[in-house]
Amino acid sequence: MEALITVLPGDGIGPEVCKAGTDVLCAIAAKHGHRFEFSEQLIGGAGIDEAQDPFPANTRSSCAESDAVLLGAVGGPQWSDPNAPIRPEQGLLALRAALEVFANIRPVQILDELADASPIKADRLDGVDIIVVRELTGGIYFGEKTRTEDSASDLCVYHRHEVERILRVAANLANDRRGQLCSVDKANVLETSRFWRDVTVTTMAAEFPDIKLEHMLVDAAAMHLINRPAHFDVIVTENMFGDILTDEASMLAGSMGMLPSASLGESTCGLYEPIHGSAPDIAGKGIANPCGMIGSAALMLRHSFGLDVEATEIESAIRKVISAGIRTADIAGADDSPVSTTEMADAIIQQLR
Ligand code: IPM
Ligand code: MN
Repeated sequence: MEALITVLPGDGIGPEVCKAGTDVLCAIAAKHGHRFEFSEQLIGGAGIDEAQDPFPANTRSSCAESDAVLLGAVGGPQWSDPNAPIRPEQGLLALRAALEVFANIRPVQILDELADASPIKADRLDGVDIIVVRELTGGIYFGEKTRTEDSASDLCVYHRHEVERILRVAANLANDRRGQLCSVDKANVLETSRFWRDVTVTTMAAEFPDIKLEHMLVDAAAMHLINRPAHFDVIVTENMFGDILTDEASMLAGSMGMLPSASLGESTCGLYEPIHGSAPDIAGKGIANPCGMIGSAALMLRHSFGLDVEATEIESAIRKVISAGIRTADIAGADDSPVSTTEMADAIIQQLR
């Protein structure tokens, strides 16, 4: 097949991991006779520096013409002045809104070999296989904001159709898995959460009566994710809770650097990005873990291009390379000598061939 992919390296380690991602995409294309064309564009702090805009018009139009978008990371201390009028993160939020990718899918799988890399005791990690479905284009991230000298506010709004459509994505995933859906909210305090819970109950009863539905308060969910992570199958939650819980869940897998994500909407053009941030502390050193990015490229093949075989090949190449003891610094044990970002990507490419 042929596909046009907009590549948005962004900031910090973004460019380093993006290069690893596109190298792997080129390798899989060569192997299977596909043609991927890449259009590299500005986003985030890089956009602010070069075009005074975290989501420049060229980026917007390139994404609109593309079959999928691959993103590194945005943000960094040089753009983090709380009083700055524009911030890198606005670029990412504008991109998600422009693509209307309301469903952010974050799989949390544990490679047995990485149990040691996790700060959680190995016995708790047994059988952990979670997908977090995070609502991505609504809630407090997108509500009206106000600021005066002495006060500030962020509005959190959810509409019925927004809750229904994210639930459908999550319930369909649960259908193909263990059939359990945990909806996470803060219904003991927030009106949006009580609404979310109501819509969840009616939608699930009407459309997915066979799915085992459970509601959990977000504070309890944060605790149970550590205490009994194997309990969870699919978790569905609103934008900010999903952001927080997936950083927490990444510790089950050993490192933020391991987790991929796919952001999907009604069209097949998805946005694919690792869940980690720009990691300014290690940027430019060539030591970032590219596995989350390479896993995101695999999700692109599966969800946007329907190339399931190719996606699975990449995922098993990642597993095999990790099994062989090849580790970047974030997941290296005391006895391992860590490899660089490029060495990790090359090992995965070698495995693919
Ligand atoms: C993420 C990030 C973003 C978010 C930031 C960079 C705006 O933390 O993708 O999880 O909060 O959504
Ligand atoms: Mn986050």
